[in-house]
Amino acid sequence: MDLYDAIARRRDTRAEFTGPPQPDILERVLGAAHRAPSVGMSQPWVFVTVRDPGTLRAFHAHVETERQVFASSLEGERAETFSRIKVEGIVESGLGVVVGYDPTTAGQQVLGRHAIADTGLYSVCLAIQNLWLAATAEGLGVGWVSFYREEFLRDLVGFPKHVRPVAWLCVGEVDALPDVPDLERFGWRGRSPLSAVVHDERYGVT
Ligand SMILES: Cc1cc2nc3c(=O)[nH]c(=O)nc-3n(C[C@H](O)[C@H](O)[C@H](O)COP(=O)(O)O)c2cc1C
Repeated sequence: MDLYDAIARRRDTRAEFTGPPQPDILERVLGAAHRAPSVGMSQPWVFVTVRDPGTLRAFHAHVETERQVFASSLEGERAETFSRIKVEGIVESGLGVVVGYDPTTAGQQVLGRHAIADTGLYSVCLAIQNLWLAATAEGLGVGWVSFYREEFLRDLVGFPKHVRPVAWLCVGEVDALPDVPDLERFGWRGRSPLSAVVHDERYGVT
C-alpha cells in the first residue's frame, strides 16, 4: 500500500474489531509512532498497552458514562442521530494503547518550545498519526476514544501527575475497514471540500 492509499483507507474503527493484533505487528506500528517528528527531538510520548479484560471493562464503563453525559446535552434530531453512533470498540479490540504526553523528557530547555508550549502536545499527535497510518498499512483498525476524564485514565494506567493522557486508541484486527467515516454514514457530519479550508495569501481569500 502506498502512502496516499494508507491515508485514504485510514478509518476510525469501532464496530469492525475481531481481536488484538499480533505482537510483531504491534511492535512495528509502535516503532512507526516512535519515529514521529517532535519539537526539540523531545520525543514526549509514552505508550501503555492494555490487554487486561478487567481494565478494558473498567474503561468501557467510564466511557459509557461520558457518552451519556454528551447524549444528555443533545436534543431532537442530534440526539436521535447520536444514539445510533458507536463511539468505541474498547472490549472488542482486546487492546488499548494509551498515549500520554510527558513534557519533562528533554529537560527545561526544549529547542523550539519556548514560545509555544503546545508544540509538545502537537508532537504526541504526530506520533498518533504515524501509528494510525502504519496500522492501516498493516491492515489493522484504530479507534481514537476521547469520551473520558483525564484524571480517570491517568489513575487507571498509573501515569504520574506530570504525564497527560492524550488518547485511548483501540488497536486490533478487523474484518474490514469502512469506506465511509461512521459520522458521515450516520448523518452526524461529513468531510468539507478542500476548497473550503485553503486560503490564498491571507485568511478569507479563497
Ligand atoms: C482527537 C480525536 C478524538 C476522537 N474521539 C473519538 C471518540 O471518542 N469516539 C469515536 O468514535 N471517534 C473519535 N474520533 C474519530 C473521529 O470521529 C473520526 O476521525 C472522524 O469522524 C473522521 O472519520 P475517519 O477517522 O474514519 O476519517 C476522534 C478523532 C480524533 C482526531
